[in-house]
Formats: sequence, structure tokens, C-alpha cells
Amino acid sequence: MSNEEKGAVSCKVVLIGESGVGKTSIISRFITNTFSSILMSTTGASFATKSIYVEKEDRTVVFEIWDTAGQEKYRSLAKVFYKNASVCLLVYDIARKASFDEIKNYWFKEIQSNASDNVILALAGNKSDMYEFEEVSDEEAKAYAKEINAIFQKTSAKMETGVNELFKMIAEKFVNPQTENISNLTNKELKKRGEKLKKDKNKNDNNNNKNGKCC
Ligand code: GTP
Repeated sequence: MSNEEKGAVSCKVVLIGESGVGKTSIISRFITNTFSSILMSTTGASFATKSIYVEKEDRTVVFEIWDTAGQEKYRSLAKVFYKNASVCLLVYDIARKASFDEIKNYWFKEIQSNASDNVILALAGNKSDMYEFEEVSDEEAKAYAKEINAIFQKTSAKMETGVNELFKMIAEKFVNPQTENISNLTNKELKKRGEKLKKDKNKNDNNNNKNGKCC
């Protein structure tokens, strides 16, 4: 049996966020590893599928990905898609603060009122290649991701960074909801955690030495 077929589970992912943040581009990068700088704005919604094998859990996640239209006139349509979604992927443009504010002030509230209680949330700061024009800092985005218990990942559909990592984290969380969202920890928190792990390891090594288990 191939890895692809092992314990396959379907996972419906819906991408939401303002028009032009790069929802369609993230999907193209993930599905076909392509990017286009000239894209028509999505009207209605479109569908694509791709599987990821999660080695740790020996499960295959079959993503059913829905791309919704960000334009205001299509907003009410998106509701139909995220109502029974397993994952809502909220996308903003790191170089456009308004698109981040829109997630906080509009899309998150919409999800809270319409999506299922156990929906997995992920926050993607797209266009990370435009760092010179950054309007949303990593710290601000991570703090917000933590507040709403979302997986956080910066992506560049254009430069091919972060997209596969993002879907991998989503797949891991989907097959094991206890997986911690390490991606939204601040550098300070990660450093603290590293120091604690080091301390615990030293403690263990010392205990093993005392018990004569070592060398
Ligand atoms: P709607 O369909 O209107 O909701 O937009 P969308 O969120 O699907 O955005 P789309 O993927 O159509 O991308 C909008 C524009 O941003 C296009 O010109 C893309 O080429 C560009 N774009 C998307 N991702 C990136 C990225 O990572 N970096 C840069 N620099 N441009 C990007």
C-alpha cells in the first residue's frame, strides 16, 4: 500500500481574506507549484485537491481546498463554504495593514458566528517577499494568532516560501488536534522554551549518571 493511501482522511479547507491578498496564488503554488503575476479576481469560488502524508501519524490528509472571492460583492457567498469547513485559512497581505485589520474586524467574527466550533484556524501573512513595504510586524501577527488559537505562517506564493510548510502544519493539526501551534510563539518564548528543554535534558542526564546508567 502506498503512503498516499494510508489512513486517508478528507479535510475541507476554505481560504478567506480581502481581494488581492493572494489566496488563489497560494493555492496555485501548493497544487501546481506555479505563480502568475497577472490573475483575474476570483468570482464565486473554485475548488482544488491535493494530498499530504503525515509521517508522524501515518495518515494521509486529502485536502479539499476552496478558494473564495475576496471582493465585497461576493462576501455573503463565502459563508456557504466555511459553514462546514474543517479549516479556515485566513490570508492577509503583510504589506497592506488594512487586509490584516479586515481579518480581525470582519472575517474572524464571521467565522465565529458561522463556522463549526471545532474549526481549525490558520493565519497566513502572504507576500513576505515584499518585506521592504511591511506594514504588519511578525510580533503583531503572532500575538493575534495566539489570541485566536491559529497556526501562523508567513508565505510568499511568488518566491515559493512557507506555502508547503503551512499546509503541512495544517495537516498535522488536523490529524492530531493536540498539536501545539509553535509557529505563533514569539522569539523570546522560543528562546525560553529552548532553555527549559536544555535544563530538563541536563537534569535527566545527571539523574542517569547518578543511577549509574551512563558510560
Ligand atoms: P481575489 O480573487 O480578488 O479574492 O484575490 P486573491 O486573494 O485570490 O489574490 P490573487 O491570488 O489573485 O493575487 C492578487 C495579486 O497579488 C496577483 O497579481 C498576484 O500575482 C499577486 N501575488 C499573490 N501572491 C503574491 C506574493 O506572494 N508576492 C507578491 N509579490 N505578489 C503576490
